[in-house]
Amino acid sequence: MKELTIIGCGTMGHSIGLAAAWAGFPVKLVGMNEADLETAHKGLQNKLAVMMENELIESDEVSRIFGNIELSMSLEEIVSSSDFIFEVIPEQIELKRVLYERIEGLVSDTCIIASNTSGFKPSELAKEMKHPNRFIVTHFWNPAHLIPLVEVVKGEHTDERTIEQVMIVLDQMNKKAVLVKKEIAGFIGNRLQYALFREAQYLLDIGAATKEDIDAAVTYSIGRRLPITGPLMTADMGGLDVFSAISNYLFSELGTAQQSGETLANLVNAKQLGDKSGQGFYKWDEDRSKEVNEERERTLIHFLKNDLNNREEERK
Ligand SMILES: NC(=O)c1ccc[n+]([C@@H]2O[C@H](COP(=O)([O-])OP(=O)(O)OC[C@H]3O[C@@H](n4cnc5c(N)ncnc54)[C@H](O)[C@@H]3O)[C@@H](O)[C@H]2O)c1
Repeated sequence: MKELTIIGCGTMGHSIGLAAAWAGFPVKLVGMNEADLETAHKGLQNKLAVMMENELIESDEVSRIFGNIELSMSLEEIVSSSDFIFEVIPEQIELKRVLYERIEGLVSDTCIIASNTSGFKPSELAKEMKHPNRFIVTHFWNPAHLIPLVEVVKGEHTDERTIEQVMIVLDQMNKKAVLVKKEIAGFIGNRLQYALFREAQYLLDIGAATKEDIDAAVTYSIGRRLPITGPLMTADMGGLDVFSAISNYLFSELGTAQQSGETLANLVNAKQLGDKSGQGFYKWDEDRSKEVNEERERTLIHFLKNDLNNREEERK
């Protein structure tokens, strides 16, 4: 299998590295300093423990997966022998462009560079690159070792070989790759997620229901169906005449805010940022944080086990 280099070993970098190493790729994970590497190492250990506890992997797989990962700070040395690089550094366009400039002169002339940007357009990111034909966006979702989707976004100069190679690597990583044909902000997943988030904020701000009931109205209804049928297939199953009639009177009633809603803006101004600061829409103490995070991980693992079984069946 191709060796994969991952530049940046923070929240996303080490979990993308874990997904790749689990699938059998030799992975070089590049961090900035010792502290970076130590955090990544701890993150890998914790994630592998949870995967083992939930029987996603056997205990004897842990050393094999760890053995596939090399943590390093030697950026120049590593990229000069890389054929495939995931860039997973912070979401600052200048920082990313500077990195591309720094590594482009070192990599082989077949090396692909794939950015994990959450929303920058690939053509913007690659504006100053010498070889934008070998540049592409691969947007993984957090936590990348448990969520299958990767949105692949090509820039105006991305060539067919790059798209093909990326699709092969993602398939080998057991990921569900979706090709976005137009460069659009937020790609697909975040556009849909934020359409829902805008309406949830609107409902809260006009006092239509409590935050608990707004969340429950999603998790106990559409949330139950969405793992199986996306919005378009759901409409097919409900009847397009019905969905069209409802669209026709409901769309004009929906929130159309162009910025964060009032409640959210107030919370952010007060530095109430959610789980990480102990207060957001909800109050987060250590117990709640542990409980909700663990339940979410268990559920993601449940779905992932199904996905992996289905993939195995399909390959037979
Ligand atoms: N966190 C998420 O939920 C999420 C989800 C999808 C996509 N993303 C995207 O993934 C990218 C990384 O986000 P993150 O949340 O992992 O950030 P992070 O801050 O957790 O990690 C970034 C890492 O990159 C390192 N770094 C910075 N400059 C570097 C350089 N020049 N060379 C090597 N390492 C460098 C940092 O030290 C850090 O370890 C961003 O583009 C972000 O938008 C994040």
